[in-house]
Amino acid sequence: MPAAPPRAFASDNAAGAHPAVIEAIVAANEGHALAYGSDRWTAEAEGRLGELFGPGSEAFLVWNGTGANVMALATMVHPADFVATTEWAHIAVDETGAPERIVGAKIVGLPAADAKLRPEQIDALDRYRGDMHHAQPGVVSITQSTELGTVYSANEVAAVCEAAHRIGMVVHMDGARLANATAALGGTLATLRSFTVDAGVDVLSFGGTKVGAVGGEAVVYLNPTLATRAKYVRKQVNQLPSKMRFVAAQFNALLEGNLWIELATHANAMASHLWGLTSEIPEVVLGAPPAVNSVFPILPSEAIAPLQEWSFFWDWDATRAQVRWMTAWDTTVADVEQFAAGVRHLLG
Ligand SMILES: Cc1ncc(COP(=O)(O)O)c(C=O)c1O
Repeated sequence: MPAAPPRAFASDNAAGAHPAVIEAIVAANEGHALAYGSDRWTAEAEGRLGELFGPGSEAFLVWNGTGANVMALATMVHPADFVATTEWAHIAVDETGAPERIVGAKIVGLPAADAKLRPEQIDALDRYRGDMHHAQPGVVSITQSTELGTVYSANEVAAVCEAAHRIGMVVHMDGARLANATAALGGTLATLRSFTVDAGVDVLSFGGTKVGAVGGEAVVYLNPTLATRAKYVRKQVNQLPSKMRFVAAQFNALLEGNLWIELATHANAMASHLWGLTSEIPEVVLGAPPAVNSVFPILPSEAIAPLQEWSFFWDWDATRAQVRWMTAWDTTVADVEQFAAGVRHLLG
């Protein structure tokens, strides 16, 4: 059996933080700075995020991804609205009901084999409009990149936004892995704008944690009319960091020189490499090459536990013996090769 790879393939948030992030936190640890965002690091981060998305956008730093989603939705829904998303959506199945409890909105998880919503599914929601016995279509939430490692093209996002706006809904994008999607679609700031602000997304959760931060996300309002109560709502939903400079410093480090895109590009490339090496193993059943940083193989079921014991990863769909291997900003070629060799050894 080869030695276990030093970095496992469990998740991108199992990875540590990038050294530039740690250095930025240490550098921000000087003297006193006013709390709650009245500090120079936060001004810089908000300015940088504003430059990414252009005039009219407004960014709010928060603690974590679930909180970013809750804050975003809390500023988007009206009483008696529902949020339409996919059956895979993190807000629907992985947030312990936080949006339902805190925002008070019904979350409707629509079927989506590839975790992507289609405009026709949104068109169909109009039938509920005006029915007093039914929650009203308020928000469409899409995840980019998705929970299944797929990516919406800019045109697909634009079509979703158009369909939603046509029937009076607004669009939230859960971008916990926005960096991986940006990398997958071209890796430039123009790419980022093409599937967010240019496509008509109203509010964005922008992830830092999965791409090398210790912890920190931003809620970015691309539609300024939705931002008017954001600063109050952030505090209400417990997402106002007191020592905000340390969240801001992390974003400044990741945004400097587009490090966040570089790290995501690397994570994506490592998943492609892993897919390539393991696709040569006959017992491993793989789908299409990964668009971002996750691979979802089906393995002989009796091999899963011993493999996990050797180098841990999560089950995905136990009914089909499907698991998830996920790469991160710090996954190395050696990690991938060692891991693939271990899979070959155990399955062979
Ligand atoms: C798609 C997606 N959205 C949101 C989150 C929430 O992040 P957090 O764990 O920081 O609340 C995650 C985390 O796994 C995620 O994968």
